[in-house]
Amino acid sequence: MVSEIRLFTESTFFEKAQSYQTVLSLRGVVVNITTIEKLNARFLRLNPELALCVDEQGLSLCANGMKMQPDWKAEIPRLKRATLKSEMIARACNISEKPNLIDATAGLGHDTLLMAHLGAKVTLIERHPILFTLLEDSKKQLENDPFLAKVVERIDLVFSDSAEYLQQMIITHQTIDVVYLDPMFPQRDQNQQAIKKQAQVKKQMQLLHMLLPEDGEMDLGDHLLVLARQLAKRVVVKRPRLAVFLNDQATDHQWQGDACRFDAYFNSNLIE
Ligand SMILES: C[S@@+](CC[C@H](N)C(=O)[O-])C[C@H]1O[C@@H](n2cnc3c(N)ncnc32)[C@H](O)[C@@H]1O
Repeated sequence: MVSEIRLFTESTFFEKAQSYQTVLSLRGVVVNITTIEKLNARFLRLNPELALCVDEQGLSLCANGMKMQPDWKAEIPRLKRATLKSEMIARACNISEKPNLIDATAGLGHDTLLMAHLGAKVTLIERHPILFTLLEDSKKQLENDPFLAKVVERIDLVFSDSAEYLQQMIITHQTIDVVYLDPMFPQRDQNQQAIKKQAQVKKQMQLLHMLLPEDGEMDLGDHLLVLARQLAKRVVVKRPRLAVFLNDQATDHQWQGDACRFDAYFNSNLIE
């Protein structure tokens, strides 16, 4: 995991950059601030290594001439079209029941945003300190947004390894309606196929692969399923369409889409 990173900013945003530096240092990341004259596309092209930058849009990740934030505002058109019936994830996670849900693999938080918009109350957990700080920043910026304020109100962000978080819940005999798991970004080659047309998504994926090489490709998240099944009435796992079951555990029910599928596990001991 990245534990030291450069941060580029213009002098106007230096104090803002320092506050991110403090927050990230508390989360174990050493941030070296470099003040530059103009943080623009040319500068980013000339400085292609993975770094952070701070400007009027807040904190972003940048590399290879690109800049990226979770960008929840860009999801608004999709949210406006979404219904409980049209969204497979909503059916899989039983969102019509307005569940309390733990999304144990936050990433960019896009799945959570959709589920919170459709009525879930979500605890969103991310263990990567930089990704978590980007999410936190996006959420803060939307607290007064006319459309998203009500949605982000239903999202609690937690900086933790979900394995530890779930373990703690088990020890203290807590239960939850749904745990949602999406542990792996698609592999680079699948990724190119699946998202050929969506330039913005492709850009986000490229930067995330640079930030999360191990988390995305090595840690498959099998242990999260074992823990989640002990405390959730329903566990839903998002998988690439043809992938093997998480932790080799056959599913109780499956929803198949074109690019991905949702595997559901029900815990009859917890369902009233
Ligand atoms: C594929 S992404 C999730 C994408 C997300 N569903 C979305 O809509 O943007 C997986 C994320 O889960 C995080 N993650 C994986 N294992 C984790 C764990 N044990 N605890 C917390 N976060 C974890 C990774 O750091 C990564 O950001």
